[in-house]
Amino acid sequence: MPNLSRRYAGWLVVALIGCAAFMMAQELKPILLPQPQTDGGRPLMQVLKDRHSSREFRGDKLPPQVLSNLLWAAFGVNRPDSGKRTAPSAMNRQEIDIYVATQDGLYVYDAKANALNPVLAQDLRAATGMQPFVKDAPLNLVYVADFAKAGSASSEDQVIYAAAGTGFISQNVYLFCASEGLATVVRASFDRVALPKLMKLRPDQRIILVQTVGYPKN
Ligand SMILES: Cc1cc2nc3c(=O)[nH]c(=O)nc-3n(C[C@H](O)[C@H](O)[C@H](O)COP(=O)(O)O)c2cc1C
Repeated sequence: MPNLSRRYAGWLVVALIGCAAFMMAQELKPILLPQPQTDGGRPLMQVLKDRHSSREFRGDKLPPQVLSNLLWAAFGVNRPDSGKRTAPSAMNRQEIDIYVATQDGLYVYDAKANALNPVLAQDLRAATGMQPFVKDAPLNLVYVADFAKAGSASSEDQVIYAAAGTGFISQNVYLFCASEGLATVVRASFDRVALPKLMKLRPDQRIILVQTVGYPKN
């Protein structure tokens, strides 16, 4: 094959792979979550007594209602009039997005719509960490700071605010899990170069932490 044709053939293969990936992402449908149940839960002091990190998970999926309650507890809208959330946010910029990595694909939580919006029709769970349990647990929450929403603060302050905001969200998840008998662990151990690429994040988005959630093994 002459050089030029070979080059065209190469581009054609790349284009076809790109189209296939795009079509797969298209196939992943938005998930409208059930209304969160906000009147349950165990007493706070008991939940604080039980809060802990776990690293052993069963593979069972979380039912949609539990997922909805979990995400609402994490960073849902708790004051619809103002759109403010269950975790504080510096200058109310709400720059932390929760990406949800499941067996079916990668979604991003839309708190206002109470929905999961599709990002990629790919199981990225194994890529969300270095520890073996991450690929088996049903859910890995990836906390992503979107610095495009961060306003005029200095870049050093933006990182501090994003880390603090993520900490509040993560603790909400810990407390929800302790209340519901779910297992969870927040994690800084993931590939900070590979994971953003796999998730197709923009340069002004940064993964702060990841948190695994599922039913405990024992
Ligand atoms: C910022 C941060 C990063 C962490 N990274 C990991 C991690 O990568 N892997 C892990 O298994 N645990 C990780 N943890 C969980 C800690 O190991 C755990 O919180 C600590 O051992 C105390 O245990 P406890 O949460 O049960 O109180 C992390 C915790 C924090 C706050």
